[in-house]
Amino acid sequence: MTRISLIAAALALFAAPVFAEDVCPVEGDRWDLDEAGVDALYACMKDRLAEGYGREGHPIGSVYRDWNETATRAAVTGPHSERFLLTFVNDIAAEQYLKFEEGDFEMPVGSILAKESIGVRNGEGRVGPLLIMTKVDDRPETDNWLYTGVQPNGKELKVSQSFCHDCHSPYEASDSMGYPGFDVRLTAAE
Ligand code: HEC
Repeated sequence: MTRISLIAAALALFAAPVFAEDVCPVEGDRWDLDEAGVDALYACMKDRLAEGYGREGHPIGSVYRDWNETATRAAVTGPHSERFLLTFVNDIAAEQYLKFEEGDFEMPVGSILAKESIGVRNGEGRVGPLLIMTKVDDRPETDNWLYTGVQPNGKELKVSQSFCHDCHSPYEASDSMGYPGFDVRLTAAE
């Protein structure tokens, strides 16, 4: 091996982890991105998301990718800082969540909903927090939802229960859940 190729090999070794934290390009306005555009963004972000949330071995951040997807692709709905969002739900939650029901029901205790988020700034997408709702039986003040999250670096995100729930509680007919946009919802039958 020549000296140059040795240096190149050494650089490549060091470059790998840095590259993984790199940002992904977002062409044009996030609201106008077509399906192919979102798919390209997500393809670039996919490993970065799971890698970031799982970096510290977080009990949800390191496993949620094996859960059930709830949408055909990531999408911007507006709340959650105009980020691209994609929600995964655990097996306890899946059957009920994927009905996207509006009515008098409550999610089973033990349900966990984990939402990936991709922030966009100056034409660049980057890993946003993983936002989590867990159904418990001892928090009537927040409709028995516990709100938590994971930072892009894998550390626990500190959240305010009232901040999260004040925006979720108006979704009374769906047990305080907002659901993905109509155009991207994945039905249980699919
Ligand atoms: C400004 C309003 C608003 C605030 C504040 C907010 N949310 Fe949400 N959240 C929504 C809406 C609307 C949806 C559904 C949109 C979507 O998933 O595309 C949603 C969806 C979610 C979901 C997916 C499950 C579902 O369908 O509802 C999780 C998990 C979640 N939020 C967690 C949190 C956490 C944790 C916080 C606090 C750190 C929080 N949210 C704060 C509006 C809000």
